[in-house]
Amino acid sequence: MRVQKEEYMNIETTNQNAKPKSFRVIYADPPWDIAQTGARGAVAHYDLMTLDRIKAMPVGELAADNATLLLWVTNAALPAGLEVMEAWGFRYVTNAVWDKYYIGLGNYFRGSHEILLHGVRGKAPFKYHGQRSTLLFPREDHSRKPAEMIPLIERILDGPYLELFARQRPNSLKDWSIWGNEVDSDITIPGFPVPSDFAAQSTTNGDREG
Ligand SMILES: C[S@@+](CC[C@H](N)C(=O)[O-])C[C@H]1O[C@@H](n2cnc3c(N)ncnc32)[C@H](O)[C@@H]1O
Repeated sequence: MRVQKEEYMNIETTNQNAKPKSFRVIYADPPWDIAQTGARGAVAHYDLMTLDRIKAMPVGELAADNATLLLWVTNAALPAGLEVMEAWGFRYVTNAVWDKYYIGLGNYFRGSHEILLHGVRGKAPFKYHGQRSTLLFPREDHSRKPAEMIPLIERILDGPYLELFARQRPNSLKDWSIWGNEVDSDITIPGFPVPSDFAAQSTTNGDREG
């Protein structure tokens, strides 16, 4: 049964499953609320978060001292993405662009690409220097990022890897952890409860009572 948002937002989360300072790659696709609340916006597909709420996530506590942040932004959320990158403790260095071969929405340019911001903290060099910044992958469902990103990330960067706002577990044998409100999350983030925290807590309470 789907847990109602009001229920899981009220529970306390602890950091007991998280591995502080351990992830060398943070791969994140936040639910930006910027220009997404219209009838054809992302709000029709999933919950959105404000910029302040995204910035407040303690991502810096999860990342290793030498780590990389790969952050998807919508075109309208590009300045917000740079703010988030700084708030999470990363320094913007470059970006890649996913060309979707598709003419999307837009009052100005019609969107046919998405931007992946690349930030670092400490020393986080690429291990493969042949990767182009133009990513030519087919478009899938609404807001779904290409499955091809997973082997690409593994090729350029060593893990452990954390995907934030995941909607499915990466199809990989490498050390990936996931977190989001539509998956069975591997970690908890203090102050940012998701339904699987609630499920874990119910099981624990049930065990105690039984
Ligand atoms: C842009 S989508 C991610 C899409 C994903 N990268 C993919 O390729 O399918 C953003 C995700 O963040 C989730 N989300 C929204 N609010 C959240 C919250 N408060 N905590 C955790 N996840 C949230 C949404 O439900 C959605 O699954």
